[in-house]
Amino acid sequence: MKNNVKMIRIMTVGFVMGLLLVSNIYGQTGTGTIPKIVEKNGRHALLVDGQPFIMLGGQAHNSSGWPGMLPQVWMAIKTMHANTLEVPIYWEQIEAQPGKFNFSLVDTLLKQGREHKVHLVLLWFATWKNGSSHYMPEWMKREASKYPNLTGRNGQPVDSPSPHIQAAMEADAKAFAAVMGFLKKSDTQHTVLMVQVENEPGSWGSVRDYSPEAQKLFEGQVPSELLKPDVLKSLNKPADSKGTWHDVFGENADEYFHAWSVARYIGYVAAAGKAVYPLPLYVNASLRDPLKNPPASTYESGGATDNVIPIWKVAAPAIDLVAPDIYMPGSEQALKVIELYDRPDNPLFVPETGSSQEYARYMYDVFARGGLGFSPFGIDDNGQGASEAEITARLEPIAQEYTMIEPMMRELAKWGFDGKIKAVVERDDHAEQTIDLGSWQAVVSFGTSGRRSEQTNTRPIGKAMVVKLGENEFVLIGSLCHFTFHPLGSNTGKAWQYLKVEEGKYENGTFNLLRIRNGDETDWGGPRFGALPAVLHTTLILR
Ligand code: DGJ
Repeated sequence: MKNNVKMIRIMTVGFVMGLLLVSNIYGQTGTGTIPKIVEKNGRHALLVDGQPFIMLGGQAHNSSGWPGMLPQVWMAIKTMHANTLEVPIYWEQIEAQPGKFNFSLVDTLLKQGREHKVHLVLLWFATWKNGSSHYMPEWMKREASKYPNLTGRNGQPVDSPSPHIQAAMEADAKAFAAVMGFLKKSDTQHTVLMVQVENEPGSWGSVRDYSPEAQKLFEGQVPSELLKPDVLKSLNKPADSKGTWHDVFGENADEYFHAWSVARYIGYVAAAGKAVYPLPLYVNASLRDPLKNPPASTYESGGATDNVIPIWKVAAPAIDLVAPDIYMPGSEQALKVIELYDRPDNPLFVPETGSSQEYARYMYDVFARGGLGFSPFGIDDNGQGASEAEITARLEPIAQEYTMIEPMMRELAKWGFDGKIKAVVERDDHAEQTIDLGSWQAVVSFGTSGRRSEQTNTRPIGKAMVVKLGENEFVLIGSLCHFTFHPLGSNTGKAWQYLKVEEGKYENGTFNLLRIRNGDETDWGGPRFGALPAVLHTTLILR
């Protein structure tokens, strides 16, 4: 009898602890703490239940936010081991009748997110979706004269909304505020972590609006907010510049005017929503080549491309961050983009990218910088009837990483926020890279390796992270790479060795040992990582 009581007590304590652990990983404890972004020494963290959190995300296809499509979406999320689903919500569905709001789809998403213990980032597809206005409700589409598109340089119609239409802006702001009001009321569990306002706003096909109203504004004075010396400096203009858009910004005037106009509009919509419920809000950007300074006519003008981030910051203070959608072929460009969007005034978040191993490697750079999250686009099969096995195979590169990170997500988030992580990503030239760790330099080469020889990776998909826990103590994480070390400073050239290399997993705050790696697994310089990512708790010693 006594034993039974003891057993029940143990089981009850175990159950409660289990619940706490599950809630620690997924949040949604209903503690009443709203997700928020904090900053420390120029680094950022997304706090969920009061602690740094990394969104291991996956984004559904554009038309997959409907109940009949969601089973495939959840299957993809599960197979990826994602903790966050990014999913669109549609203005045309939410406000099909003017002023009458229908939140049934949002409600379904909230309920199913909780059932699957997965957080949500909602994407407000409204005035802008990839530069066009195709998610505007039907009643607005039918009133083109009240809600017009912009006019091209030669007077031609362009399939992109004008950012100068007060009625459209007010309508969008009203609907967005209603969405945020619904979340405030219905999401006390904080299933929703962030909301994306619009989707890749800006314009394809015209650098700006050339309608008579827009032209009048363009010929007016640049607003005083943009004429502050620090803002002008960040845009490479003299600190005392003033006058018209052309006077101040010269050849960039058309694009900068459009960026200001689009950002002001979205800033207004965001502020209306934030006043109701202050969740973190962001805007995603279709990118330009970050290395070549191309003309704005070759990319989506007016969006938050790297060159106009300072304009977006001034024009839309209710937007917490602008985020790059990374679909770039080359490692130099992609890594440059990550660097450019990781700013003291802009938390890093990659809300869209590809799901191949080439894209998965960038996750390491993002998390080392204390990024808030990472998410491949189009995770579900988009109604094509793919089998679970096919979806699983497609998402395998991301799933491998998320499976390894998921149980240590809270540690990684904290280490990233504290600046303890450094990462290297295999570049397209496969070159060896070094990481300065204070008393030690880590040297990382990429490839699959036998005991003494290395075979270069055929594709540039290797990656490595080092977490500095102490002067001689590191967590090494990686795949398809090989580590070695050199003592630095006054110890340069001295003999050294591995005191211990432990392979295992961080689970709920504890490192659980799988094996001690030694012999072939650490000789010839140091540990090798194969195709499957691994976590090594490593201590070095001078001899
Ligand atoms: C980027 C957009 O933001 C997504 O909604 C989607 O249209 C993808 N492009 C398609 O590649």
